[in-house]
Amino acid sequence: MFEALFASPGFAPHVLPLRERPRRWLVTGAAGFIGSNLVEALLRLDQQVVGLDNFATGHQRNLDELLAAVTPEQTARFRLITGDIRDTRTCAEACAGIEVVLHQAALGSVPRSIADPLTSHDVNVTGFVQMLDAARQADVTRFVYAASSSTYGDEPNLPKREERIGNPLSPYAVTKLVNELYAAVYARSYGFKATGLRYFNVFGPRQDPHGPYAAVIPRWVDAMLDGEQITINGDGETSRDFCFVTNAVQANLLAALAPDEIQGEVFNVAVGERTTLNQLFGLLQEGLQRHGRNAPSEAVYGQFREGDVRHSEADIGKASKLLGYAPTHDIKAGIEHALLWYLRKAADL
Ligand SMILES: NC(=O)c1ccc[n+]([C@@H]2O[C@H](COP(=O)([O-])OP(=O)(O)OC[C@H]3O[C@@H](n4cnc5c(N)ncnc54)[C@H](O)[C@@H]3O)[C@@H](O)[C@H]2O)c1
Repeated sequence: MFEALFASPGFAPHVLPLRERPRRWLVTGAAGFIGSNLVEALLRLDQQVVGLDNFATGHQRNLDELLAAVTPEQTARFRLITGDIRDTRTCAEACAGIEVVLHQAALGSVPRSIADPLTSHDVNVTGFVQMLDAARQADVTRFVYAASSSTYGDEPNLPKREERIGNPLSPYAVTKLVNELYAAVYARSYGFKATGLRYFNVFGPRQDPHGPYAAVIPRWVDAMLDGEQITINGDGETSRDFCFVTNAVQANLLAALAPDEIQGEVFNVAVGERTTLNQLFGLLQEGLQRHGRNAPSEAVYGQFREGDVRHSEADIGKASKLLGYAPTHDIKAGIEHALLWYLRKAADL
């Protein structure tokens, strides 16, 4: 999975210098889906990595799996701090001696934020400022954070371009917008630049299929493997720019390695293609059938989900121009990797 990234023309020139001069990285949300993939990529590149997580939605099994995938020497370069990003001392401890922060810890999910806006605010806004300030005080040189495509809200134009945003449609979207506002203010007030990556529907190995707030791809794969009926929210013509996790890893590393003048920007991170939920259902169905698994032939249709954006597709021109970002996996290639992982997990049970 990471081989394609490390060998890609835009990223390969960074691999050797990183290995020759390893940096000290902090990944918050290290036990989560994207965070654990970031830690794995960094360890595979022989970097020194500190992980911070309170296991609110992350899992020890993600860390166990990634550490089993790297060498003992690489494992020895990893240290986990179990703690909360809302705690000032924990953030200071985590940032001590760190050169690059990749801040992923947050409570994801639009429905979760509608059900419990206060906790989403607390973690995603207060926790974000705690991390940002700890990094500033520790003289961290690069701070890259997980922003979100939800920030586009009701902005109707496609593809989404970084400078055109609308009204947020959920408390989650507000928290991610506020992250960007704080990042901009820290740049103006303190000259501390943080770079935001607006992820669009990231998916791939280790994305949690369980719980009420699971994302659509893992939730459907899990249900299909269990022979359960799939319910599509709305008419199935809602569309998303599904982004395989290796592309998100690439964007993080490129943003962290970019020169000073590129820091402090906000970038879309996606593939630049739109897939409807009906098409996604078909892709997963075909994929499972290719692996000899039965998949339901039809889905049922339910209510549209509150707070959901109708269509989403990114213009990735800015990341491509300024960071040299070029996705290595489209949705089909990504789904194949993800399915293999979910099938392996199902076989292990
Ligand atoms: N997955 C996506 O499609 C997507 C899209 C847009 C933005 N994002 C953002 O990307 C980031 C990572 O998302 P993910 O999909 O990997 O989710 P995830 O839930 O798998 O990972 C989040 C991690 O943060 C940890 N965490 C939560 N609260 C914490 C706290 N108070 N202190 C310390 N750790 C805490 C969780 O335990 C978990 O390990 C999040 O900021 C999310 O908002 C994700």
